[in-house]
Order: sequence, then structure tokens, then C-alpha cells
Amino acid sequence: MTLPSENTAPFESVDEVVEALRDQGYIADTRLATTVFLLTRLDKPLLLEGPAGVGKTELAKMLALATGRRLLRLQCYEGQDETKALYEWDYGKQLMYTQILREKIGQVVEDAPDLASAVDRIGQNESVFFSERFLAPRPLLEAIRSEEPVVLLIDEVDRADEALEAVLLETLGEFQISIPEIGTFAAKQRPYVLLTSNNTRDLAAALKRRCLHLFLDYPSAQRELEIVRSKKTGLSDSLAEELVNVVRGLRELELRKAPSISETIDWARTLAVLGVDELSSQILSDTVSVVVKYDKDVKKALDALPRLVDPNATIEEHSHGHGHGHGHGHDDDHSHSSDDGDGPDGSAIRTAKDTAGRHGDGVYGTPKYAKGTEKDAPATPRSVTSGQGSRSFGLGRKRAL
Ligand SMILES: Nc1ncnc2c1ncn2[C@@H]1O[C@H](COP(=O)(O)OP(=O)(O)O)[C@@H](O)[C@H]1O
Ligand SMILES: [Mg+2]
Repeated sequence: MTLPSENTAPFESVDEVVEALRDQGYIADTRLATTVFLLTRLDKPLLLEGPAGVGKTELAKMLALATGRRLLRLQCYEGQDETKALYEWDYGKQLMYTQILREKIGQVVEDAPDLASAVDRIGQNESVFFSERFLAPRPLLEAIRSEEPVVLLIDEVDRADEALEAVLLETLGEFQISIPEIGTFAAKQRPYVLLTSNNTRDLAAALKRRCLHLFLDYPSAQRELEIVRSKKTGLSDSLAEELVNVVRGLRELELRKAPSISETIDWARTLAVLGVDELSSQILSDTVSVVVKYDKDVKKALDALPRLVDPNATIEEHSHGHGHGHGHGHDDDHSHSSDDGDGPDGSAIRTAKDTAGRHGDGVYGTPKYAKGTEKDAPATPRSVTSGQGSRSFGLGRKRAL
């Protein structure tokens, strides 16, 4: 095994990456593994983009485990300033020292003739208080100062302001940080840097240019099944396979928040706990609130489930195959637009919806999403409530037991 202190390349081949990640419970395809392999060989950060819940953050964690490196994580958020990313002065500690040393400081200025010269004298000793002892390193500086090589995760960088992005760019470009009072720190060991983005806004071209880039989309059916299996959900392989296909069908609908891998895993666990031995549209409807979390999404999912479980069920339905039933009392004729979600542009629409739902209305909305909200807005007055979802969940359990 690679010792953390050795700065040698941890993987001999792409296959080794696949194996090492699998040992940690992370299932990677060759495209992903190749990118990770390059990350460990080239001195470049890796930018992972894609919808929420496809395993971006998890990859950084598992890479740290697989390489025996410590994980340092910078979670980005709106309004975050650079001191939270780079370093801060430990004001509390400075204050404590001045309190304890009050007498000593008193002696230094004791014979100063006036205030100006007392201030001068303190000023001459300033460097004592702005030294490494009083430095509170934040993740970027910590990664650069670390004696041992680390994995640095800069998570959800699209949530940070552009000003912070510029700081990142500078730091990642040079792998060094200058602190005016102390000097410049250069990385002793190059960290593996992973940046993630849920695509709520476009990142600076300069940042993209500097990084290896990977768009991580929802996994193939085969890989998702493998992931579900690896989580030992208790659901049989054949049911898990059917379930994965149903979830993939739900992702094709124009949902505000498409179900991600974690939702598939949760659904599998739920069905296993209920002792389900056959996937009926009834049991999936009863438990659908496990995977779709917005009222309107629930309604769309309930409409689509019969078709997704049994494709023949669409025969009696509308020709455009939504199965949006009669008597649900919803008048959202814009649901026709979900057909767009099946077209070539489907993934883009899905992504926009997904990321928007992740962060709530309007906060990081792209123009595309903003349009979507307008369109959706008038159609909300009534839909299946979450209460209704849990009610039917309860019924499902009774029947299943
Ligand atoms: N390739 C994978 N192998 C195993 N589990 C995965 C994989 N991708 C995603 N998961 C599961 O999905 C969950 C959500 O992934 P996460 O990394 O938090 O998503 P993201 O950061 O892309 O929003 C993880 O906690 C993990 O359980
Ligand atoms: Mg994440």
C-alpha cells in the first residue's frame, strides 16, 4: 500500500483506479477512472460538473480513502469571503496573549514620552502578533502547508461568488499563497484538487481552462444497478434492476428535482423493508415520496408510474403517453412540455431543473430556469399534497405486511 508520506503515483493504470475505488464502495466507469488516473499524474485540478446526487462529492472522499490521503474540504456558499477559504488571523488567541502579557507590553511602552511613540513601539513589535503562531489556516492554506499530501475538495464552487473564484484561480494556478505579514507559502506536496459544480451558473472560462474537466451525468442502468447492489439494500437483484429502470424513466420527466442515485438507493431500501416481492405501480405509487420531493413532481410521477412499470399500460392512455390520468383535477396543460424532456435536449432541461430544485427558487436560477418558474407558477394551486403521499404510503405498508 502507498504510504501517505510517499509522493509517488498511487495507481499504475486506469484499471487500478477502478479497483481501488471499488474497494472503497465507489463504482466508477472507465471514463471517470481515466480522468481520476490523469488527475493523479498531471498537476491539474479536476472540475466535476453535473446534477446533484451523481457522486461528485463522494468521489473526492473515496479518492482520499483509496490513496490514504487526508481530505480537506472547502464547502462554498454565496457571500463567502476569501478569509474562509485561505486564512484568518486568530483574533481570540491574539487577544488572549495580549491579556496575559499585559505587564510585559506595559514595560515596552513604559518610558515612551507620548502616545505617538508608544504606538510606534508597539508597531515595531507587530510581527510578533502577525506570525504563524496566530494564523488560522483555512482549507486552501492548509492544503498548501500540509507536510503530507492531501486531497483538496472545493465543493459546489458554483455557489461561491466570482470574487472567490478569482482567488481560487490564483491559488490553484501557482499552488502558493502570499500572506503580506509573513511571506509566501508554496505547496510542499501537490494536493489532488477536485472542484465540484452543480451547474447553477457558468464558471469562469479561465477556471475551466486550468482544470481537467468531467461532466458526471446520471449513471448507465448497469452502473446504477451495480451501485445499488453494492449498498446491500436487501432488495433482490431482479427487483433492483426493474427499479433502476423505473427511476430512469422518472428522470426523463420534466421534474423540478429529478431523483438521483441516493434516491434510487433509498427507494430500494424502502421496498426491501416493506418486503415487496413484485414491483407494482401501486406499491411504487405508495412509496413515491421517497424519491420525488415536490408536490408537482409527485403528481407527474404518479401519472407516469403505470407506464414505467408496464409499458403496455400506456395503450389506454393518451397518445403522447404521459398517462396523465383523468380525475386528478389538474389543469396543467403545460405537462405536454415534458415531451421535450425526452428529446435530444432532455438532459439539458433535466439538469437545469435538477440543479434549480437543489438550491431553491431563484437563488442561483439560470435564465432558463427562471423562464421555467414563470411557466410553472400559475399551475400550482392544487396538486397531490405531501400529506396525501404519506397517507398512501401508510396504506401500502398495511397491504404489504
Ligand atoms: N459511483 C458511485 N458509487 C457508489 N455510490 C455512489 C456513486 N455515486 C453516487 N453514489 C451515492 O450517491 C450519494 C450521493 O452522492 P454525492 O457525491 O453526494 O452527490 P453529488 O456530490 O454529485 O451531489 C452518495 O452518498 C453515494 O451513496
Ligand atoms: Mg455534492
